[in-house]
Amino acid sequence: MALIITIANRKGGVGKTTIATNLAVALQNKGRTLLVDADEQRSSFKWNDYRDSKIDVISAHKNLLDVLESKVKEYDFILIDLAGRDSEAFREALLITDKLIIPTQASLLDLDVLPYIDEQLKKVYIDNRELKTYIVINKAPTNPRSSEIEQARSYISDYPNFKLLQTVLRDRKQFRDAIVESKSVLEMQSSKAKDEFNEMLIEIL
Ligand SMILES: Nc1ncnc2c1ncn2[C@@H]1O[C@H](COP(=O)(O)OP(=O)(O)OP(=O)(O)O)[C@@H](O)[C@H]1O
Ligand SMILES: [Mg+2]
Repeated sequence: MALIITIANRKGGVGKTTIATNLAVALQNKGRTLLVDADEQRSSFKWNDYRDSKIDVISAHKNLLDVLESKVKEYDFILIDLAGRDSEAFREALLITDKLIIPTQASLLDLDVLPYIDEQLKKVYIDNRELKTYIVINKAPTNPRSSEIEQARSYISDYPNFKLLQTVLRDRKQFRDAIVESKSVLEMQSSKAKDEFNEMLIEIL
């Protein structure tokens, strides 16, 4: 049975596709991996289209449970990249997800969606007791003096169902370059982005 990892947030532009595509490359080395692009924008799907070494990516934003029924036996890892809003696909995905990763930026304006997700998840945990929810701060300022991250940590600590990752993904050009070049930061020259992503992998696997 596949381990199902969903990358979601009700906000757009927080790095869901960045994390999903990088995870797809990382997990491909560990087992049979399927990336499900559940966003009508099809960013992950297009990212794969331009790759030389293709990954198994399907586009599916309706009837996710039906689509994935047979796939869970075929793959070791299934990644689901969702749209940045509440959707039928989001609710369906939550029922079968083992690990939910919520990327967020550190500003209060981005964090203010978390109470709503927390409420929504309380109902999901009743049916899906295995669900583990991680938050990763993404696009964080590289300035070590910025207090934003500490503020975010304090805010998130009020929600015990969320496990905040120690790893912080900073705002780094390599993440932007990788996605534009249809690559993962793991396939590019050594960089801080690569180190951070590897650190995150250890925490979530
Ligand atoms: N750590 C990072 N450092 C620098 N740029 C980043 C980082 N993470 C994401 N980005 C950039 O931010 C933008 C949005 O990222 P991405 O498309 O992954 O977000 P998303 O949550 O999938 O957005 P959407 O809700 O539109 O699907 C992209 O330009 C991406 O390259
Ligand atoms: Mg996206």
